[in-house]
Amino acid sequence: MKPLNLILGSSGKTGSRIVKKLNQLNIPIRLGSRKSNPSFDWEKSESWETLIKGVDHIYISYQPDLAVPTSIHHIQTLVDLAIKCKVKRLVLLSGRGEPEAITCEKLVQGSGLEWTILRSSWFSQNFSEGMFLDAILQRKIIFPKIKIKEPFIDLDDLTDLAVDSLVNQKHVGKLYELTGPTLYSFEETFSFIANEIKESIPFEEIPLKDYISMLGDFGLSEETIWLIQYLFETVLDGRNEFIQNDFEIAMGRKPKDFKYYAKETAKSGVWNSKF
Ligand SMILES: NC(=O)c1ccc[n+]([C@@H]2O[C@H](COP(=O)([O-])OP(=O)(O)OC[C@H]3O[C@@H](n4cnc5c(N)ncnc54)[C@H](OP(=O)(O)O)[C@@H]3O)[C@@H](O)[C@H]2O)c1
Repeated sequence: MKPLNLILGSSGKTGSRIVKKLNQLNIPIRLGSRKSNPSFDWEKSESWETLIKGVDHIYISYQPDLAVPTSIHHIQTLVDLAIKCKVKRLVLLSGRGEPEAITCEKLVQGSGLEWTILRSSWFSQNFSEGMFLDAILQRKIIFPKIKIKEPFIDLDDLTDLAVDSLVNQKHVGKLYELTGPTLYSFEETFSFIANEIKESIPFEEIPLKDYISMLGDFGLSEETIWLIQYLFETVLDGRNEFIQNDFEIAMGRKPKDFKYYAKETAKSGVWNSKF
């Protein structure tokens, strides 16, 4: 019998891709999000057992981010329940350069279960499915003044490795630091997109503190603003400004470059102006 895989964050950027690929491979899955049935909510641990019972492998994508203070308690609770329910393998999506994420990774690594850690750089798809899409559609980027470059990873690559980690034994006990093949500044990434859609996307840099107060004016929640500030001050302070070849070691091919992502994604029309 094929192992049953529970995908947490099953409707999200990574989860939905993993679900699609496992379906194509005819691998049994169970969905885990607040809208799945049964539902899964990180804030309601009393209801997790129904979903976890009978599952062999769990893909863990935490919400909103392993950097938030509640993550450690939630991941510990999940690990304990996974052990109780005799789950065999945990595949954790983690973030680079976040001390709290490292603590969560250690909880998974120390669980006694089979584990794989996917410690990922920023997703290319943040520009088409995430936090930067609206600004691109409005053709105006206001961005904090940061001088670092980031090795964006394409989610098609991350998905391939996540699925392989769920399906195959060879990634058990491996911590992969996943980056794309090239470091790019944010200004460069927006300019690649502008180039592909053949429109100008003005890019203005402002001090981080002005950017954060601008987010407050937009009505974002305190938690979201805290997380964005944390990401810009901590994850994007230069500590992650390097490339790792773990993806190539794991999958035997090079990861996709951001420029390729920009070219292919432009064809989908997602960046066509809606205003
Ligand atoms: N974006 C990046 O560049 C980046 C880089 C490295 C690591 N990461 C990590 O990636 C993870 C996010 O993964 P993703 O981008 O694939 O997800 P996502 O696109 O942000 O989607 C969120 C998913 O989680 C579910 N969800 C939201 N709130 C929930 C809650 N309280 N309880 C249970 N499920 C909830 C959503 O479905 P429902 O609405 O139905 O609940 C949805 O399926 C985070 O841990 C983040 O730190 C992101």
